[in-house]
Amino acid sequence: MNDMSRTAVDALWWQRGVIYQIYPRSFQDSNGDGIGDLAGIIQRLDYLRWLGVDAIWLSPINPSPMADFGYDVSDYTDVDPIFGSLADFDHLLTETHRRDMKLIMDFVPNHTSEQHPWFHESRASRTNPKRDWFIWRDPASDGGPPNNWLSEFGGPAWTKDEATSQYYYHAYLPQQPDLNWRHPDVRAAMYEALHFWLKRGVDGFRLDTIQHLIEDESFTDNPPNPDFRSGMPPTLTFARTRQMDRPEVHDVIAGFRRITDSYDDRVLIGEVYLPLERVVTYYGTPGRPGSHLPFNFHLIGAAWKASFLADLIAQYEGLLQPGNWPNWVLGNHDRSRVASRVGRESAALATLFLLTLRGTPTLYYGDELGLEDVPIPPELVQDPWERRVPGFGFGRDPVRTPMPWDSTERAGFTSGASWLPLNVDRDEKNVETQRAMATSQLRFTRDLIALRRRCPALSLGDYGAVESRGDILVYERLYGGTRLTVALNFSATTVYTPLPTGNVLLSSTGGRSSEIVTKLLCLRPFEGVVVDTSLTSEEQD
Ligand code: NOJ
Ligand code: CA
Repeated sequence: MNDMSRTAVDALWWQRGVIYQIYPRSFQDSNGDGIGDLAGIIQRLDYLRWLGVDAIWLSPINPSPMADFGYDVSDYTDVDPIFGSLADFDHLLTETHRRDMKLIMDFVPNHTSEQHPWFHESRASRTNPKRDWFIWRDPASDGGPPNNWLSEFGGPAWTKDEATSQYYYHAYLPQQPDLNWRHPDVRAAMYEALHFWLKRGVDGFRLDTIQHLIEDESFTDNPPNPDFRSGMPPTLTFARTRQMDRPEVHDVIAGFRRITDSYDDRVLIGEVYLPLERVVTYYGTPGRPGSHLPFNFHLIGAAWKASFLADLIAQYEGLLQPGNWPNWVLGNHDRSRVASRVGRESAALATLFLLTLRGTPTLYYGDELGLEDVPIPPELVQDPWERRVPGFGFGRDPVRTPMPWDSTERAGFTSGASWLPLNVDRDEKNVETQRAMATSQLRFTRDLIALRRRCPALSLGDYGAVESRGDILVYERLYGGTRLTVALNFSATTVYTPLPTGNVLLSSTGGRSSEIVTKLLCLRPFEGVVVDTSLTSEEQD
């Protein structure tokens, strides 16, 4: 075995593979209640296998009053009846593994539901043994909240409990009280919940909002946000420096990591919305390891311009320490869909970009069809964020609509009334139709995932040159003797860029393949290509 193949074999599944995010409420309903469930996901595993993804990450499925659609957990070691049972979960896990895929669960450590028995106990009295499992403070001298901390979802981050005359802290909804991670019993109980799922065989966790786990112990006010401008949402009035990204958080995450590392081959992904230089601190240090993959969301807010994106890649790569494995995310259940952000004519280009960057890609369900945000009429809004802070475009329902499987009235998602409306363009944007087409966003995504699997240069290779040439972003991926060149045209005009002669086109958003590129590569509007440039013209002569 030569060095090259040994490295490919040694790479871990979460480094090589493609992760696919499922929002369980919206993937497949099996019992006609209009809400997706685990039995539904099992029905669609063959599709995911066909698509070629390596791992599935499920947004939360634990019992929940659904104030934040599962991100308010009332029992960490069970499954909500809406989604099924623990037996259904075990079945899903077995069937996922049988198809050589991995299953990653969402774990929500920052807060419970207000309906969690721990919080019921905690709020029962000031002397309850679980009082300090949550964060309680006396009112300020005027009787108001203890300080100026605001909730991510609007309004103060404090809610008064009239019975005990204290405020409890919640970084998100009042229905999501924050756990006190400084308390050793909280740590022990939550770490125990991780063991519960690891013993059942889950392959890892995506940890929700880890930058929020610890607050500043002094509880002093946040400073004003220097970037705040009038017209911005009031939630951004103050910088959240006292509320999040505190140094002690890394001890808590190291605890998670110690547990996952005590099982074989598991992964820990951290959700962190922070500037890149802060995101990379969530890899931890050799003595205090953090998550394997702190999610890099920086493509989501990025300007869709070659020069900006070249700088972004360089900045990220420059911040990574030896041993840190990169990752990229284009969309998720919290942010506008990529096809809506960059325009539908660039949806394939965005997919090519995600799947050829160095690092683990996470694909959001439905993006393989080019789904766009689905407008939700005000009377159908479900998302608590939109309800609490309307008018700023925070609503997340448009990106959580049911997966369209076919062109029938309910798109094969449900036999009942779906909990959110379907995309109106489901005649074209559905799995069955796009699967039957010779070229479609779905076919393109699948081919590209297969190419990535065939070419270690794409999944594991280093970067060669990364540069913007006007509207074109060009980068090389190197592995052993292979050099692949990726070229992306971000403009609406046809452009040309020089490449060494005699190269074979491996993939193109424009449906070209196996062409020989001679000296000047032509890129049509919003076209992206992968070209094998391993042999330069000189070498071929
Ligand atoms: C981040 C999750 O992705 C989001 O959906 C949720 O509302 C918040 N964390 C609170 O748990
Ligand atoms: Ca259902």
